[in-house]
Amino acid sequence: MAKTLNFAVVGLGMGMHHCKAIQQAKGAALTAVCDTDEARRETGVRQFDCKGYARYADLLRDTDVDAVCVVTESGKHAKMGIQAARAGKHLIMEKPVDVRPAAITELEETVRETGVKCGCIFQYRMDNCNRMLKRAIEKGKMGNLIGVHAHLPWFRAASYYDGPHGAWRGTWRWDGGGSLMNQGIHTLDLAIFLGGPVHSVAGFYGVYNHQIQSEDQTVAVLQFANGALGTLYTTTCALPEGAQHIYLYGTKGSFSRRGNTLEFCEMGTPRERARMMELFGGKEGKDAASSDPMAVSADGHLQIIEDLVKAVRNDREPVIPLAAARHAVDVARAIYRSGKTGRVVKIGE
Ligand SMILES: NC(=O)c1ccc[n+]([C@@H]2O[C@H](COP(=O)([O-])OP(=O)(O)OC[C@H]3O[C@@H](n4cnc5c(N)ncnc54)[C@H](O)[C@@H]3O)[C@@H](O)[C@H]2O)c1
Repeated sequence: MAKTLNFAVVGLGMGMHHCKAIQQAKGAALTAVCDTDEARRETGVRQFDCKGYARYADLLRDTDVDAVCVVTESGKHAKMGIQAARAGKHLIMEKPVDVRPAAITELEETVRETGVKCGCIFQYRMDNCNRMLKRAIEKGKMGNLIGVHAHLPWFRAASYYDGPHGAWRGTWRWDGGGSLMNQGIHTLDLAIFLGGPVHSVAGFYGVYNHQIQSEDQTVAVLQFANGALGTLYTTTCALPEGAQHIYLYGTKGSFSRRGNTLEFCEMGTPRERARMMELFGGKEGKDAASSDPMAVSADGHLQIIEDLVKAVRNDREPVIPLAAARHAVDVARAIYRSGKTGRVVKIGE
């Protein structure tokens, strides 16, 4: 029988979702949790009946642990991933994989050198509707892509940025930005997943209704490598909070998806269109996480964890490799650079 992959989770805010997902995932088991916050650590140990570590270095010395989910503040991710890889642990990296490109490059090099597997979280990529839309685009059912437009009108209360676990949010150093790098990075990544890599951007951002350092509203124009043009809007100020909305236009068709609802899908044969609407039309439109950060579903996490188990067993790349996860960070950084300098910024320049 194939060996169970024993996981540990470091960072027990969103990390609690990882713990639940690991417990349900086939071929995975939760061996340990780690958090410097004693109350969070003890809750994790009690709830999941596993070992608890206050010090990350002690967790990394535990030879029962095969893989680590890094779910700490975003600006700590790459460093902690590098430490785990050097200790021979496979990795699940929460989004964004880090906020500094140089740190991500170092993580990429370490993963290559150590040979560990590194899967990244962008759970919208695992969603059935998004996967079917992507397959249809790849099969040419939309023709050539012309427009890729994505909105994330969410709300975060002032309390989200306060308290012992809030102060890092909305800071450049630890959050890497605000509504774009934290919440909107999912929306940006989905636009990239469906529309392809981004070539250059023009962006604007500012702080509109929170006491934070970075931004709570960003607008960008995206030029995709395939020539399509796009727009991106992210905010944590929207009242009432709304759902993520993505719509794509091609020379042969288009679709629009708001929250979990496919609003229309005009591509492929009439039968294919009807099937997509039957499967994904008419669902609940609002995002549960639009105002409650902990209301995200753990389904995508579970699939990404099961995929890491298979990637280790079959010695293959995880479904969301580091290179894919870093592109969204590079594009978000370019949007901020454009907003700061007032010029169009090429990705990777
Ligand atoms: N995929 C998603 O939908 C989703 C949703 C929310 C958050 N996130 C991501 O998850 C990450 C964590 O966000 P959060 O809201 O849970 O933050 P949080 O501040 O609530 O939790 C971070 C935890 O890490 C712990 N920690 C920090 N440094 C540590 C160390 N050296 N050793 C042990 N523990 C340490 C902190 O004590 C804290 O409990 C962020 O990168 C965020 O972007 C992803």
